[in-house]
Amino acid sequence: MIHPERQRRAYLQAMGVDVWLSRDSADVVADETEAAIGAAARTMDWDELRVCVAECSQCRLAQSRTQTVFGVGNPTADWLIVGEAPGAEEDRRGEPFVGRAGKMLDEMLRAIGLQRDAVFIANVLKCRPPNNRDPKPDEAAACRAYLERQIELVKPRVILAVGKIAAQNLLQTDDPVGRMRGRQHELNGVPLVVTYHPAYLLRRPSQKRKSWSDLCLAMRLADGAAP
Ligand code: URA
Repeated sequence: MIHPERQRRAYLQAMGVDVWLSRDSADVVADETEAAIGAAARTMDWDELRVCVAECSQCRLAQSRTQTVFGVGNPTADWLIVGEAPGAEEDRRGEPFVGRAGKMLDEMLRAIGLQRDAVFIANVLKCRPPNNRDPKPDEAAACRAYLERQIELVKPRVILAVGKIAAQNLLQTDDPVGRMRGRQHELNGVPLVVTYHPAYLLRRPSQKRKSWSDLCLAMRLADGAAP
């Protein structure tokens, strides 16, 4: 059923009347669009999802991005790594985790015997927030259906959420990383492990030991072993 607000706008537009949306009405239309895209994404294959993300203009970040950063790696990987959002280098190259933090992530993966192309790497946001600010809740909400579909398509054996933003968004909580890491969570039936963001480990190398233990937990879960 067409939303009454959308119908009103269509009539007014057909009559040549300029349509100004109140904030409430704009929110209704944005929510409706988000829900429609979310529903459509649930049936998309990889190619359709890739195009849908590349053309997305659901939030303000579409105006400032160079390009979307869809995700990269093995589409049937056992491991799905989820980060926060593209930074400047990722925005320029169209690939997640290719800057300094990316080198650190590669090292973390190598430490447990995984090459970068053996896993799938994605972010909560597919577009870079200006000046690398934190994602806003409405931006994460607008992007969520894409990540959910990526999880469904990859069917990973384990999800590794790196950093506060990824963990809080995936688990829908405000808990700090220190409280979430070190144990098993679950997202739609998939085991999920939280660890520190590689950029944080670059600043605080003393935390690498804890991160190593998180990676070992994730490895056991990926192997199907009890934690
Ligand atoms: N940090 C992230 O969380 N994701 C990236 O892609 C790059 C840096």
